[in-house]
Amino acid sequence: MTNVVEQHTTARPVTPLGILAEELEGIVQAVNEQTDLSAELKAKLNFAWRLAAGLDPYLEECTTAESPALAALAKKTSVEAWTQRFNEGATVRQLEQEMLSGHVEGQTLKMFIHMTKAKRVLEIGMFTGYSALAMAEALPADGELVACEVDPYTAEFGLAAFRQSPHGLKIRVELGSALVTLDKLAAAGESFDFVFIDADKKEYVQYFQTLLDKNLLKREGFICVDNTLLQGQVYLPVGDSTPNGEAIAQFNRVVAAEERVEQVLLPLRDGLTIIRRIC
Ligand SMILES: C[S@@+](CC[C@H](N)C(=O)[O-])C[C@H]1O[C@@H](n2cnc3c(N)ncnc32)[C@H](O)[C@@H]1O
Repeated sequence: MTNVVEQHTTARPVTPLGILAEELEGIVQAVNEQTDLSAELKAKLNFAWRLAAGLDPYLEECTTAESPALAALAKKTSVEAWTQRFNEGATVRQLEQEMLSGHVEGQTLKMFIHMTKAKRVLEIGMFTGYSALAMAEALPADGELVACEVDPYTAEFGLAAFRQSPHGLKIRVELGSALVTLDKLAAAGESFDFVFIDADKKEYVQYFQTLLDKNLLKREGFICVDNTLLQGQVYLPVGDSTPNGEAIAQFNRVVAAEERVEQVLLPLRDGLTIIRRIC
């Protein structure tokens, strides 16, 4: 296996708020260099930038600190040379540190597991295992989390982290395409109280419909879905949308029209939709 050099790169903004803050920072810098603009306009733009840029750090500050195992996993993921690994052809999939959900979202998912008293959890899209381990920390000792991941390197990365935590014993990793795994779980009669969808955006509709149609999600169970704002693309003009943005916009329409569920879209990070199965 190729020796990959450890590197630490700053994560680029991948949420509507993060992108907004970065855009405003650039505008503030450009405007501050203009001598013909009023001090009032500059002050207003500065205020808008600080309002946007200060929110995420404040949410972090006010949220319970992550466990040492989660902090170590986030650190290890951030120093992994993902780009170099892909360039050398170790995998065909584009993975990057920005995929990791992180502290506030991890704590949110953990809180949801406590609130719902879920015992059986399914994660579709594990990456290096941050959200899986966060949810497992909230499961009772006899709870189980099944994590689907298609990339073998990433799955092994997560398994190594799970071995560092007593809660890792509650996690079972299913390697392979999520849709194939879902069929396999349904055929085995497995069902879940809580599902976290965070894999291929173009397959979100299929994950959702399979969970309902094959009763992988129990009645009164919950699905949390990540990236349902897709960097704002779902509400920006169509010309500003990527194929993933279009896929998520379609997913949001499908959920809104589905009579078996009720849902709310929260503006947490890149958008988190909470869905409850009502029948
Ligand atoms: C956004 S990341 C998941 C992040 C993770 N939930 C977390 O919070 O740290 C998406 C993951 O889904 C995986 N993935 C993409 N398509 C998949 C598929 N069809 N089946 C299973 N996993 C898939 C990718 O390899 C990647 O690791």
